[in-house]
Amino acid sequence: MGDLTIRPSRGLRGELTPPGDKSLSHRAVMLSGIAEGTTAISGFLTGEDTMHTARAMRALGVAIEDSGGGNLTVRGRGLRGLTEPADVLDMGNSGTGMRLLAGLLAGQDFFSVLTGDQYLRKRPMARIAEPLRSMGAGINGRAGGKLAPLAINGAGAGCRAIAYASPVASAQIKSAILLCGLFADGVTTVTEPHKSRDHTERMLRFFGVEVKEQGNRISLRGGQRLSAPLSDLVIPSDISSAAFFLVAGAVVPGSDVVVRNVGVNPTRTGILDVLQRMGADIELLNAREQAGEPVADIRVRHRKLKATRIGGEDIPRLIDEIPVLAVAAAVAEGTTVISDAAELRVKESDRIATVAGELAKLGAVIRERPDGMEIAGKDRLSGSVCESHGDHRIAMSLAVAGLVAEGMTTVRDTAWIDTSFPGFERTFVQAAYGIS
Ligand code: S3P
Repeated sequence: MGDLTIRPSRGLRGELTPPGDKSLSHRAVMLSGIAEGTTAISGFLTGEDTMHTARAMRALGVAIEDSGGGNLTVRGRGLRGLTEPADVLDMGNSGTGMRLLAGLLAGQDFFSVLTGDQYLRKRPMARIAEPLRSMGAGINGRAGGKLAPLAINGAGAGCRAIAYASPVASAQIKSAILLCGLFADGVTTVTEPHKSRDHTERMLRFFGVEVKEQGNRISLRGGQRLSAPLSDLVIPSDISSAAFFLVAGAVVPGSDVVVRNVGVNPTRTGILDVLQRMGADIELLNAREQAGEPVADIRVRHRKLKATRIGGEDIPRLIDEIPVLAVAAAVAEGTTVISDAAELRVKESDRIATVAGELAKLGAVIRERPDGMEIAGKDRLSGSVCESHGDHRIAMSLAVAGLVAEGMTTVRDTAWIDTSFPGFERTFVQAAYGIS
């Protein structure tokens, strides 16, 4: 359990480096496990979600040495080298872990079962199970095969390539199909309504796989082998974790903060565009590239924000940042409208309901819409007691809201933060109050 109590801040100061990117960490340990050769990963996120994925890869026969501080050495088993796990694979709270691994397992010639915690077992799995079945895998689960636990009979030698038009822009769906496609005979293609994060495509290329891209259509030929990269696979900090400090720096008067080593892949930087549209003072410094991903330091200084509209192709580029952007909107001038974001309802919590309900407790003027929300900004919020709903990003967003709320704010049940941001409290307290 555990609670976090927050008082107003007089400005965020100094520099901080958030932990490694969650999306990249899942992919790094999966791809290095099926590569030929040994991969040295640094900057791996040691949060609960990605540690579940590392444990699952171990259970599939991959030797992974963890030397601490996010440094892993992974001895790849080659494309067809994974082995049947002796037990159920527990993915904890992680939708990405479960969906991507389901794709990988759907291509194997063995049986496996994926499960997760009470929240993950409620999240929709038909979106990956259906296309993976059409590739030849047998997938059963609760609710007629729509919910975890998922029992997977891998397609093995009968794995078929498909051309799939995804109804939602989801990197998890795209990646599950592409990972299964590695084991298929022929070319697998996924088309999306908008471009979702392209980490899988970039990392596959980093491992020497040819991946073709034509607009929102991605394809790869099955049977290509992955080779461990010659240089280390260096994972930058997660922009989704940086987001809490970017918004805090933008909204707390007196702030001037630098968030270091942040992944700024253009499929993830919607938060920067929207904050800039709202008038935020944001500067990218020291732009560079690491392991096929763009990286920069980001400086943010306080400036009064104004409302904006967020929708359409913005959404996949900032889907995980909407809870904290709602906090920015709650103290901006004017009414912000967020639409086309119904996907938020099937994240770690129903984030439309949880954001609206919890920010309202802090005095925000916020109205739910089926596919988003409307937020009328005001000068300050007011401290209260609010709940995480078992959702790490709701907990951290509420902590940021507490910095601009009068009096004390308590966020209850914050242990969930460890799924993506171990050490959050320390970094937060240091940046917001200068206390270490
Ligand atoms: C992720 C994709 C997104 C995102 C999630 C991580 C990924 O989900 O919300 O936190 O690493 O592929 P969807 O692809 O389902 O939108």
